[in-house]
Amino acid sequence: MKEYKILPDAEMQKQREYIEKIRIYNERITAGNGKTRYAYVQTFGCQQNEADSERLAGMCEAMGYVVCDDPKMADIIIVNTCAIREHAEQKALSIIGQYKHLKAEKPDMLIGVCGCMVTQEHRKESIKHSYPYVDFVFGTSSIYRLPELVFKKLKVGKRLYCSEETEYLVAEGMPVHRESNYRAWVSIMYGCNNFCTYCIVPYVRGRERSRRPEDIIAEVRELVELGYKDITLLGQNVNSYGKDVKSDNGETYDFADLLSDIDKIEGDYYIRFMTSHPKDASKKLIDVMAESRHVAHQFHLPLQSGSDRVLKAMNRHYDKAKYLDTVEYLRKKISDVTISSDIIVGFPGETEEDFLDTISMLKTVKFDMTYSFIYSPRKDTPAAAMQEQISDDVKGERMNRLLETQNAIALEKNKPMENTIIKVLCDGPSKNNKNVYSGRSEGNKIVLFQGDENDIGKFINLKIVKADTFALHGEKA
Ligand code: 5AD
Ligand code: SF4
Repeated sequence: MKEYKILPDAEMQKQREYIEKIRIYNERITAGNGKTRYAYVQTFGCQQNEADSERLAGMCEAMGYVVCDDPKMADIIIVNTCAIREHAEQKALSIIGQYKHLKAEKPDMLIGVCGCMVTQEHRKESIKHSYPYVDFVFGTSSIYRLPELVFKKLKVGKRLYCSEETEYLVAEGMPVHRESNYRAWVSIMYGCNNFCTYCIVPYVRGRERSRRPEDIIAEVRELVELGYKDITLLGQNVNSYGKDVKSDNGETYDFADLLSDIDKIEGDYYIRFMTSHPKDASKKLIDVMAESRHVAHQFHLPLQSGSDRVLKAMNRHYDKAKYLDTVEYLRKKISDVTISSDIIVGFPGETEEDFLDTISMLKTVKFDMTYSFIYSPRKDTPAAAMQEQISDDVKGERMNRLLETQNAIALEKNKPMENTIIKVLCDGPSKNNKNVYSGRSEGNKIVLFQGDENDIGKFINLKIVKADTFALHGEKA
């Protein structure tokens, strides 16, 4: 017997009953005035938030709202916030500020704010006092309670502030409204136990809890049957999957086991996963990837810093040598694997020498891509209280040097792809230039080409005619 931390179905049943009541209420309004009821869900932050927003939108849809992409049309707006860096919080607060005018024009509109930012007590308080037109606020442990909050707000009219659950549990069976019909997110676990000293996530998303394998496998199977081509498994540290589960016979089922079982599903699709923590990216996992039929040859492995001293201060539990061992094994087993990473510059106490260690790791590993961030102090995390915070000027200057180094490496990595033929999944017109179509390769590289509407959501073979730093340019082969 295995013990998963799953919310009792009775609680979900309660939410389904609220959904039904609100659906009837919305139907009556539409029958009376002929107006469709609209919902707008706005997302800040990471893929985990995108996945949560698809559930929020799914619940809105089940409650009788049509999901739209214009806040002005909406009868209900949900803002799903992020807290990873100060900038993300400021952006969300500024947008919430702008909704004051919408609410003034349309007083019946409901505005809800949820997600990581407002899971922090001080932010919940600031919404309470400075944004009086926000109707309800709920944190990451209460996403599934949206129907109850909408119902209570409609019925009682008072503003609502959901307190955080004492134990964060997995809510199964929420309806979902997926943004795409060929790429999908599947959360396999929630929360984080790692407490990297700079990071707010463990404080706002609770401890690790895994979904049951049968629920995950059923969701992936359904997506493949529906024609999804690119499915990303999500967790703050997917390598911890299953470790929170109590088993009375000592049997374990880890992330590599899950990946191997998912790979057995027949179909034409890629499986990806993020994020892997370098301290426990195992050989077993890499072996499963190498032998799999569907796991994309792509690995996101956040290094954060190339200095052992800084890694220790970050509480990352690996050093350069361990990281390089993993990269070496990965490349030995999967020669065409692309590797990407997250890097933080300007962690408290980072010296010029520490920074040069990071530059040197970039040059040694030669990542295909990095996501680089300037360190942003997060309230109540250990790093925010550390002495020797780095000045904005130094952080900015280091960031520029980091980007310059990485851009040259990315170009060097992309060049050999010229004149090869690669398969890409087409996403449609490029966001930056509507005259070209954009797709992504197995290695998650952006490829631009002359496409047409019929290509969207399909795999297309392209001959690479030119490689740039941030994109490849292809022609239909
Ligand atoms: N400041 C800057 N970057 C951060 N990240 C997490 N916390 C912070 C912070 N306080 C980065 C890490 C992580 C990515 C998702 O965001 O690199 O891997
Ligand atoms: Fe944050 Fe570290 Fe957890 Fe990632 S592993 S979410 S960086 S605490």
